[in-house]
Amino acid sequence: MSRTTAGSEGQPGTGTTPVAIADGVHWIGALDPSLRRFDLILRTANGTTYNAYAVRGSAGVAVVDTVKAEFADTFFARLEQVAGYDEIRVIVLNHLEPDHSGALPELMRRAPRAKLVISKRAPAMLKALLKADDQEIRYDTVDTGDAIDLGDRRLRFLHTPFLHWPDTQCTYLPEQQVLFSGDVFGCHHCDPRLFNDRVGDFRFAFEYYYAHIMRPFKAHVLDALKLIEPLPLKLIAPTHGPILRERPRRYVARYRELSGADMALEPVLADAKPLRTLLVFYLSAYGSTARMAEAIAAGAEGVPGIRVSLYDLDGGETEPFVDLIEAADAIALGSPTVNGDAVKPVWDLLSSLAVVSLRGKVGAAFGSYGWSGEAVPMIEDRLRGLKLRVPVPGLRLKLIPTDAELADCRDFGQALAQAVTGADGAAAEAGGGAQKPVIDFADLA
Ligand code: FEO
Repeated sequence: MSRTTAGSEGQPGTGTTPVAIADGVHWIGALDPSLRRFDLILRTANGTTYNAYAVRGSAGVAVVDTVKAEFADTFFARLEQVAGYDEIRVIVLNHLEPDHSGALPELMRRAPRAKLVISKRAPAMLKALLKADDQEIRYDTVDTGDAIDLGDRRLRFLHTPFLHWPDTQCTYLPEQQVLFSGDVFGCHHCDPRLFNDRVGDFRFAFEYYYAHIMRPFKAHVLDALKLIEPLPLKLIAPTHGPILRERPRRYVARYRELSGADMALEPVLADAKPLRTLLVFYLSAYGSTARMAEAIAAGAEGVPGIRVSLYDLDGGETEPFVDLIEAADAIALGSPTVNGDAVKPVWDLLSSLAVVSLRGKVGAAFGSYGWSGEAVPMIEDRLRGLKLRVPVPGLRLKLIPTDAELADCRDFGQALAQAVTGADGAAAEAGGGAQKPVIDFADLA
């Protein structure tokens, strides 16, 4: 059986290549960049990931969680590159919600020697999920302190119920100090770079996820933290969003803060790197403005000292974006022109910014158009009215961007980033991010 390590440099999560995350441990999950709403209530501005993992020990392989059913092919393709089905001894389901158990029935069929391991509160849900009775499902339940031997390594279990379903648990690999945390410490943020030190700014997604998924269960979060905080941790492997390998303990600390009595969003970081933050927002009717946004983000990311994040306004609520913009140094807004105007979500976002100070931040506008292209200058006027600097003239492209025009977009992004960092020779004014430091997860220790 072949062993595959990381995928192509820069985009390890693309394709169907498994990604090594620790010695003998691979990410075998799936990316869902197009998702714009999760569980009907959560908006997902750039999609999500369904993270699953394979752990190889000297006595066999364990699979920890699976993926949503429609992504099963990708999951199995990755799994087959790191293990044969006859090698799989254990399937651990930390949480039975269908986004993690969708591929379970087929995995059990393909790996008949594997034992299913679930939390002590999970059996009723398992039966409902698989529509079967006890006789048809072979499983073991585990509690805190239980462990499974994989030969030269063990999987230990932590009973962490109600994060956010009754069945939830975490699985710990002490030899590699890896915590498979299920939904805990996860977020809906899809980025093929996978690791927290590689992806864009996902603070908003982390906070939003906590606020919507974990916050109702604060007391249970605190109970879980009592089990998690004493663990040596090199890496946290959640079921959604970035894998937390850089300074993972800070995310644990953030959960402790957020689960405290006052819920204050106080900064926990005094020594954040002075990275400047550019947020690229867009709406796109037929994909042209989206392609511009992606090219602009790519161009900006090539400038040292800047962190770029891309958000589709069709998948986001305005209020969290306002907080994000307040802490950012620059925003770029992309809109098509419809009936001589920018589209409503762009105006909604701009009208929401009256409650925060934008003075000194950098703004920019771009968009594809069919006839007259008024949206871009109208957005620029509004940005200036909100006291943003608009140092780079707006970029308008007629209909579908050509390769040459996408190169122009990358140049536009580069010029914008240079204006934000001061690399264009102009004195860069500090935006909200520099004036009001907030927790910076990517830089935390
Ligand atoms: Fe990601 Fe609660 O399932």
